[in-house]
Amino acid sequence: MAKIKVALVGVGNCASSLVQSLHHYGGGNSGDTAELAHPILGSYELADIEVVAAFDVDKRKVGEDLSKAIFSEPNNAPVFTKVPSMRVTVQRGPTLDGIASELKEIVLESKEKPVDVAAALKKSGAKILVCLLPGGAKEAVQFYAKECLKAGIAFINTTPVLLATEEKWAQKFTKAQVPIVGDDLMSQLGATALHKALLSFLTSRGARIIESYQLDVGGGTESLDALHRARDQKRALKSKSVSTEVPYDVPVTAGSTDYVYFLENRRESWFFCRSRGIGGAEIVIDLRLMSMDAPNSTSILLDVIRAVQIGLDRGFVGPIDPVCSYGFKAPPRPYPLQISEAIFEHYVRSTRPV
Ligand SMILES: NC(=O)c1ccc[n+]([C@@H]2O[C@H](COP(=O)([O-])OP(=O)(O)OC[C@H]3O[C@@H](n4cnc5c(N)ncnc54)[C@H](O)[C@@H]3O)[C@@H](O)[C@H]2O)c1
Repeated sequence: MAKIKVALVGVGNCASSLVQSLHHYGGGNSGDTAELAHPILGSYELADIEVVAAFDVDKRKVGEDLSKAIFSEPNNAPVFTKVPSMRVTVQRGPTLDGIASELKEIVLESKEKPVDVAAALKKSGAKILVCLLPGGAKEAVQFYAKECLKAGIAFINTTPVLLATEEKWAQKFTKAQVPIVGDDLMSQLGATALHKALLSFLTSRGARIIESYQLDVGGGTESLDALHRARDQKRALKSKSVSTEVPYDVPVTAGSTDYVYFLENRRESWFFCRSRGIGGAEIVIDLRLMSMDAPNSTSILLDVIRAVQIGLDRGFVGPIDPVCSYGFKAPPRPYPLQISEAIFEHYVRSTRPV
């Protein structure tokens, strides 16, 4: 019997990679677990994670088995495994602000009546909800957070909507005796992680950073949503996250910039950093990173899910700081990359609250 029961809201590209990975590495296909950051985390393997409920609003996904819905349009995440029937039917959640006006012809709204989400969550036996809604869907993200509070279910906020970082929401989850982690997932080797590593490397080698930016384009529906509704928010969060690597004030801009449909799930990111060494000698780095958005989110998400279960096992409530700092771009307590990784490993190993 699976030990970690999760529900998903938003059966988009990240959900597709997540579900495929659970099958591919979790026993179905014996995928090469060297591709995972943590094949085992604490005592949990991927085979211990089971998706028991899923919610969406698109008519091509609602009513379908999750194994099929993840491959429905407009999803364009890479397909790397076949997933057998999971006996989890995607349920119709309320739309609220889930579909941006610019996406009305891309995300096709189901005509079915929304279910009672809190009741459906309770019935499924889920203990954790992974929120994979579009980044601009503030109302919908807050709605699902409230349903989790009602149902007593832990909340993982991969979106840039601020919840774990907001005192008001942190208190609500603490009062309801359930954990929350967020905000805005940090991909395994996405633009933010690489930009942080680059600045950290320059700083540790004694270079004086003068200015740095990172700009990118993507082709998933999330890139289009972000372009119209969450660009400023994402840019502010990413810039702040990257700045934590430099121990002095420096102009840093990092953020989602544009949408190019034919890139599909690909993301192209460009990095620029001007720094100085001895005698003011200039050191300039120009880099390009090509990555696939959805798979890039999965390894960290698999760690976060298991780390939240570890928190549940230990009776943690409210924001779990070591998990937030490790897995997210906007945690309540931001640290440089290497420190947040060390704190996370300590949290996983420790038997006492950290
Ligand atoms: N590497 C990454 O891809 C990455 C990194 C960091 C954060 N994130 C965040 O993860 C989230 C998901 O990204 P994605 O690429 O999977 O997005 P996506 O656009 O592919 O999927 C979003 C899904 O949500 C559904 N949806 C919309 N409104 C809904 C509602 N009210 N109720 C239920 N479902 C609804 C859509 O139909 C779609 O299936 C985004 O907020 C994104 O910012 C992703």
